[in-house]
Amino acid sequence: MKRNVTDLNVEGKRVLVRVDFNVPMKDGKITDDFRIVSSLKTIKYLINKKARVILMSHLGRPKGEYKKEFSLFPVKERLEELLGQEVVFISTVDPVNDCTLAACENLKNGQVMLLENTRFTPGEENNDDEFAKELAKHADYFVNDAFGTAHRAHASNVGVCKYLPSATGFLLQKEIECIDDNLKNPKHPFVAILGGAKVSDKIGVINNLLDKVDTILIGGAMANTFLKAEGFDMGSSKVEAEKFDVAKEILANAKDKNVEIVLPTDVIVSTDFDKPKGLRTAAIDDIKDDEMALDIGEKTTKAFIDKINGAKLVIWNGPMGVFENEKFSAGTFGVAKALAFSEAISIVGGGDTALAVKLSGYEDKMTHISTGGGASLEMMEGKVLPGIDVIDDIDGEEVEK
Ligand code: 3PG
Repeated sequence: MKRNVTDLNVEGKRVLVRVDFNVPMKDGKITDDFRIVSSLKTIKYLINKKARVILMSHLGRPKGEYKKEFSLFPVKERLEELLGQEVVFISTVDPVNDCTLAACENLKNGQVMLLENTRFTPGEENNDDEFAKELAKHADYFVNDAFGTAHRAHASNVGVCKYLPSATGFLLQKEIECIDDNLKNPKHPFVAILGGAKVSDKIGVINNLLDKVDTILIGGAMANTFLKAEGFDMGSSKVEAEKFDVAKEILANAKDKNVEIVLPTDVIVSTDFDKPKGLRTAAIDDIKDDEMALDIGEKTTKAFIDKINGAKLVIWNGPMGVFENEKFSAGTFGVAKALAFSEAISIVGGGDTALAVKLSGYEDKMTHISTGGGASLEMMEGKVLPGIDVIDDIDGEEVEK
């Protein structure tokens, strides 16, 4: 078990916290502050415990050099609003220099500082040992609360652990408990809902889940590939022809393992993607050459809802259709509603699915919406995430680093 921030005696100490403030931005404005809000519990805890809090994060992919559009300054402003206190911002491109060190040293108990984007420095993504060591000089402890970045082995989440006693923050801990612990010790009936564009993105997840779940509901464009592999004519629907064999193999493995895979029996079709035309509900054996499936149909949605209603644990990754267009959102929102009112533990992962749940209005009714996209997918694949693996164990000796 990993050491948690509550296991550290942080009063008066400089605590370097890796958060994931990689938030969507448009014209310099934050369009969704979910990740910032999700980090507040750890930050507020540290403030209340009179720690000197030094936050660091990446934003976007600036590739090791300063680019104004990737500055964390707008995040500092939002964070100040959310915390109701000043956040000292270190605006130098290279966050590691004598001025920053002095500023950290001068931080008062309960004060918060935010370093500029760690990815402005080339050493970040290379997990450069020197850069990690320099970052570590800022603090007495390291707390990792950046679940969204846990699948990356970078200097600010992995390298730094070599030089500082480390612990998880509340968000990272919650992500581990909700995703990893539920997958390792699932309640049954356990239902997985998988969707999104590609089978290839989800092969690892499906293979890991086949040993754990009772039922997998497949929607979204990835269902087209399964249906086509099964011999259905999917018209002009998006399919991954090179994955037909994989799809067949998954269906055969599921049968061997007694896992029920439920594929759509009807879909909403259109003859145009951008400007929906000729909309209708089509049975899966009645799709015309110029029609493409863009959402699951009513019968399928109902079948999926029945499975959700009988479940004790549901994980969901990938929308059921092109939910951004209201004409193709009924399947995804229907699933979100069912999950919201079911008794099951509901775990939602993936950026698109999290956005869909938000738009459905049932965000507050889910047990957990992961802040990770790639990270939640890799955790659902059963992979060990480097950013978590490297954190000190609770029973590990607190060695001088
Ligand atoms: C994410 O948004 O998935 C994380 O912040 C990681 O970002 P990255 O894919 O650019 O490494």
